[in-house]
Amino acid sequence: MLILGIESSCDDTAAAVLQDDVVLSNVLSSQDDIHTKFGGVVPELASRQHLQAINPMVEKALKNAGVTLPDIDLIATTQGPGLIGSLLVGFSYAKALCHVSKIPLVGVDHMAGHILSIHLNEDKPSFPYIALIVSGGTSSIYLANSHTDFICLGRTRDDAAGEAFDKVAKLLGLPYPGGPHVSRMAEQGDSKKIKFPRAWLEEDSLDFSFSGLKTAVLNHVNTSHAQNKPIHIADICASFEAAVVEVLVTKTITAAHKHKIPTVSLGGGVSANTTLRTELEKRCHQSNLAFFSPQLRFCTDNAAMIALAGYYAYQNNGATGLEQDVYSRSHLG
Ligand code: KG4
Repeated sequence: MLILGIESSCDDTAAAVLQDDVVLSNVLSSQDDIHTKFGGVVPELASRQHLQAINPMVEKALKNAGVTLPDIDLIATTQGPGLIGSLLVGFSYAKALCHVSKIPLVGVDHMAGHILSIHLNEDKPSFPYIALIVSGGTSSIYLANSHTDFICLGRTRDDAAGEAFDKVAKLLGLPYPGGPHVSRMAEQGDSKKIKFPRAWLEEDSLDFSFSGLKTAVLNHVNTSHAQNKPIHIADICASFEAAVVEVLVTKTITAAHKHKIPTVSLGGGVSANTTLRTELEKRCHQSNLAFFSPQLRFCTDNAAMIALAGYYAYQNNGATGLEQDVYSRSHLG
């Protein structure tokens, strides 16, 4: 089956063509340059930019795959969660294509895409597995029972991990998106220099909270300014990153033990973070758990993972009606 995938949930316009679970093409138009001067995504600018980029991206994905629209058997597009204005561009565009070309549509939950991105590797995990999904919009732990059955075991109660990275970066004067910049600075810093708080929440809770950590970084910077002390950005970045990673890794390992699941995977934009990948792999190894992490190009938002999730959702539940609408909160578990 040839699947055209479309992704426009936030600030990347992406398209991909898959033959079943094999990626034939995967292209993306980034809006980072537009949003960086505002220190975060401006929703209206994002939607307008999606309108400009969507047709060229789909044409490029088809061309790179060596196929044309009539060859396509299924169009999979992100239905939610995300920014409504951004989602509407991709979803309406896909609905129109499906209507005129008589191709079935499948609406995909963006989180299912991140959970399944690991299946774009040659070496795929078998079910069930625990998936830690960390991005700019979410930090959640899922139990993946099959390609279409996901149970949310824990989620953030306030900021997502990526959002915390982005806000700390903004506070320190680093560009948007902040995650890669904080991570690069952290490599030169001492992660033990500043003892930032870890929010463990209630005993056994698999939920996350990163807003207190973000405030602790702000307080540290303000106190240093007030006392005329120099700000060591690299040490702040390293200590902040260590605090985020320790909580993410510990709760993921706890989830695997608690549910007696032998395999752990990672997904979402923050999974590009080297410290997180390395620490989780190390802790999985120590706990005799198999560990899988996606290729870097499938960590951040992309349309290949949407096409893949759509391929399985279509086999399980059939097509999505053209009367359906987008949604802002994930429908998973
Ligand atoms: O999955 P994604 O592309 O978009 C969302 O659905 O949110 O994730 C983007 C997020 C941003 O917050 C970005 O700062 C973060 O992923 N990110 C990173 C790294 N690369 C991207 N965070 C930490 N370390 C990185 N290397």
